[in-house]
Amino acid sequence: MDKNFYITTPIYYPSAKPHMGHAYSSILADFFARFKKIDGHNVHFLTGTDEHGLKIQRAAENEGKDTLEFCNELSKTFRDLSNILNLSNTDFIRTTEKRHKISVQNLWQELKKNDDIYISKYSGWYSVSDEAFYSDEEIEDINGKKQSIISKSAVEWMNEESFFFRLSKWEKSLLKYYEDNPDFLSPESRKNEVISFVKGGLKDLSISRKSFSWGIQVPENKEHVIYVWLDALTNYISALNYPDMKDSLFKKFWPASVHLIGKDILRFHAVYWPAFLLAAKIPLPKKIYSHGWILSGEEKMSKSKGNILDPIKIIKEYGLDPLRYYLIKEVSFGNDGSISKERLEDCINSDLANNFGNLCQRVVSFAFKNCSGEIPSQIKFLDEDLKILEKFKTDINLIRKKIDKLDVNYYINYIVDRLFEANKYFNDQEPWKKKDDILRLNSIVYTSLEIIRKICIMLFPIIPDSSIKALKIFGMNESDINFSSIEDHMKLDFGKKINQINILFKKIEKNND
Ligand code: MSP
Repeated sequence: MDKNFYITTPIYYPSAKPHMGHAYSSILADFFARFKKIDGHNVHFLTGTDEHGLKIQRAAENEGKDTLEFCNELSKTFRDLSNILNLSNTDFIRTTEKRHKISVQNLWQELKKNDDIYISKYSGWYSVSDEAFYSDEEIEDINGKKQSIISKSAVEWMNEESFFFRLSKWEKSLLKYYEDNPDFLSPESRKNEVISFVKGGLKDLSISRKSFSWGIQVPENKEHVIYVWLDALTNYISALNYPDMKDSLFKKFWPASVHLIGKDILRFHAVYWPAFLLAAKIPLPKKIYSHGWILSGEEKMSKSKGNILDPIKIIKEYGLDPLRYYLIKEVSFGNDGSISKERLEDCINSDLANNFGNLCQRVVSFAFKNCSGEIPSQIKFLDEDLKILEKFKTDINLIRKKIDKLDVNYYINYIVDRLFEANKYFNDQEPWKKKDDILRLNSIVYTSLEIIRKICIMLFPIIPDSSIKALKIFGMNESDINFSSIEDHMKLDFGKKINQINILFKKIEKNND
């Protein structure tokens, strides 16, 4: 089995401060990175900022700032957010870094060497907001203003000399690749969208701009800068020290296991990026998963629409782990979803405070009162104990398979079910009525503590801080968290002292007016 796991987020435009949509992509990527880490993989997790192109140049101009200074300031807000979100990323790349520039220029030269680049003239529509070219069929006219039908962003007419990439040449190879590698694009609906786009015919792609200078220069041609998407996509390999394909990072982690992206940037990742890689004879990533949008009302949350929600404010009000839990559980992965404070509060009260936090408190208090605050040593499991414990063992490989399919929805629902069962078990077994049958009482406490241990481990990728706090019951640290150990029913050391813990989640007083 491949024990190296490389996951990436899109690199974000530092044209404004990050919002909830960016936080969403990053938290989901962090979930997979953390899961794979506790399941024994070497994980490389990359995020960063996409700093070139007209969109950024204009944003800096609007603020009257030097472009690089502007990028420095805003890129820092994304790096800070990575810390605030408790991301476990192992690298943060900026496309203005030297390592990236070298990589992009090398890729360009590779494409040129293989005769995939030629010079011509581009005349057509361009959206600066999307940094994307659109054909006439993809444009609509709203009150005299032209915009993209898909993204609704304004477009402008572009007419200039440009280098082109022979995208059309790769049409058949791409279709064959999608067919031969059915897991390459998911979810299924997005895959079909890509296949029909490619089947509709690919035109060669303009990959340089002459009318502005904020970008990486085309090698041997000072008048052109490289198209920002060719520049940006290369980040996934420049962070692994491409062009040195013998470098240990590159050898270990390329091809990437997953590029996690939003559905807005599917075409760039599923068509252009694989075509560039095919042309440069570099292996293709294993999987591209495009998730849905965080909506504000009915619309995508985005800076240009002015409808953004600041993740930092929500975290200040409710805490980080509740937000992580909410985004993972309540926004069905792969679909669009919205954020509602009311549903967030419900998650905190019922799932986190009641079903999880309260279970930990109850069982630990009971063990302190009745088992001298120790893991009971005299135990004899009954069928009802083994049944609930064995469920984890039976399902462990299924859970791994679901994660490989990036089925977060299955994972979180699985935990919710186990929490429900655990609470029911403790209530139904009524250990408080077993004070005359110490063997039975001990066995119920042992089983309940063991379930708590297993659930805390499973919760770690979702709510890492709270999981670590709860695992202090057993004196465990982050480095002791190991997913395989949920198989084992006898992991708790007989007679070992357990620890009281502080309340994990405070209930929110709901105002029912
Ligand atoms: N810079 C490009 C990506 C280059 S990757 C080689 C870009 N940047 S972006 O900042 O506009 O958006 C990046 C990603 O942020 C989106 O693909 C998506 O993953 C996430 N989101 C931005 N707004 C979002 C929502 N409203 N909802 C969910 N995710 C969204 O595109």
